[in-house]
Amino acid sequence: MDVLVVDHPLAQSRLTVMRSAESDSGAFRAALHELTTMVVYEAARSFAIEKFPIATPVAPTQGTRLANPPLIVPVLRAGLGMADAALGLLPESSMGFVGLARDEDTYEPRAYMESLPGDLAGLPVLVLDPMLATGGSLVHCCQLLVDRGCTDVIVCCVLAAPEGIERLRDSGLPLRLITASIDEGLNEKMYIVPGLGDAGDRQFGGM
Ligand code: PRP
Ligand code: URA
Repeated sequence: MDVLVVDHPLAQSRLTVMRSAESDSGAFRAALHELTTMVVYEAARSFAIEKFPIATPVAPTQGTRLANPPLIVPVLRAGLGMADAALGLLPESSMGFVGLARDEDTYEPRAYMESLPGDLAGLPVLVLDPMLATGGSLVHCCQLLVDRGCTDVIVCCVLAAPEGIERLRDSGLPLRLITASIDEGLNEKMYIVPGLGDAGDRQFGGM
């Protein structure tokens, strides 16, 4: 599984805003939006393009567009804060949704929503979730996509724990990962350390 860390000064400054316990939810959401633009920009570097004829005001030439725009799938809730930035860069894309909540005792994901096309054969899928902790949620989501025929899953996140990366790798699913950081690991409550806390709560408040 390919793993890319977006180790760019602008990405790391947005990540710092997200990590700081002093940032309020407005600052957190704004930093997540901007950081997502950078992560998705890197994810799109390998997308196939096609040429087509256009005319400038001066002369005919060749234009370029994405040959196969990906389906964008934010994982609710926390991935919602990445959706608008991703769609802004990929206005030709469609969007599907997966709703998952991690059980506080078992740390396994509980699925509560699924809105995806039935057939994903031939369509790349860009999955958005800021946090890869144990990896349970993203493996669940990616398995749903592969079960629908997807063979090219690109996972965009903000923070990844080594434990989660290993779980994604061990899943054997056809995916690659783009993240702004690989953190130290997980604590006894399966939170990423140093992390940024609960990405859903920090955007939308506690439930
Ligand atoms: C968070 C996060 C991931 C998941 C990561 O969501 O957005 O989906 O935890 O943990 P894991 O890798 O151990 O599965 P959460 O379940 O807290 O729901 P929320 O987005 O509604 O806050
Ligand atoms: N989910 C979060 O929102 N934060 C973590 O650190 C782990 C899982």
